[in-house]
Amino acid sequence: MSTRAEHFEALAARLKPACEALIAQYEEPRSALLPIMHLFQENEGFVSPEAMRCAASMLGVSPAVVESTVSFYTLFFRRPVGKYVLQVCRGLSCTVSGAEEIMKYFREKLGIGHLQTSDDGLFSYEEVECLAACDKPTCMQVNLEFFYSLTPAMIDEMIAAMRAGTFAVAPMAQTEQPGKTWSVKQDGEVSMGRKSLGATDVSHPNNAGGLGDASGLIMLDRFVNNEIAMRGRSNERLVQDASSVADVLGDHEHAGH
Ligand code: FES
Repeated sequence: MSTRAEHFEALAARLKPACEALIAQYEEPRSALLPIMHLFQENEGFVSPEAMRCAASMLGVSPAVVESTVSFYTLFFRRPVGKYVLQVCRGLSCTVSGAEEIMKYFREKLGIGHLQTSDDGLFSYEEVECLAACDKPTCMQVNLEFFYSLTPAMIDEMIAAMRAGTFAVAPMAQTEQPGKTWSVKQDGEVSMGRKSLGATDVSHPNNAGGLGDASGLIMLDRFVNNEIAMRGRSNERLVQDASSVADVLGDHEHAGH
């Protein structure tokens, strides 16, 4: 029987040409991070730790960069999810248009709450921040496809079609049985004695580099002792080339005097 590692190795080999094609579209390989993560998620149903490590090595960045990027977006699931991921907007425009009632209706119909997956592995439900479709409240995404102006009748129809396997949006790939939730609690993991993937290079698993940690102090020390160099480093992200860096540094000098 093939192991998880063998399965992933085969998947990574199959996706390698597509990943290389994505990387080739950008000037910097790391710019292909998001599309590559989407590609793995489409194939595995979630973004696995193996996928994050694989992307890090393909792109020449640290696993911490990949994990911090993936964990920023509600579009990525870091644990197996249901075949239908229902993400209902709870932003301002949707809330004043009845999102509270829509969310309550979903919870009652599905028998699960925020960040939970149904026992049969069919539905994962989440209440998310603004989906940037504020002109058509109340809205949601199903497997990242938009649905607008929700009503209880629409929800009934939608859920019935998903149960019958006739819904317009294809189900997510599901390579592993989902657990109760796909939410990854960093603190919970650390308190259970496991280092998160992104914290593997820090000095202590209970501190990912804050003020109380040696790596945070080292960074502070660099700021204090080599301020000009550190300013250059952070400014280079905002500008295109070295001459612009010099301009920005010049402006700072000006502002400081
Ligand atoms: S508030 Fe719901 S899309 Fe913006």
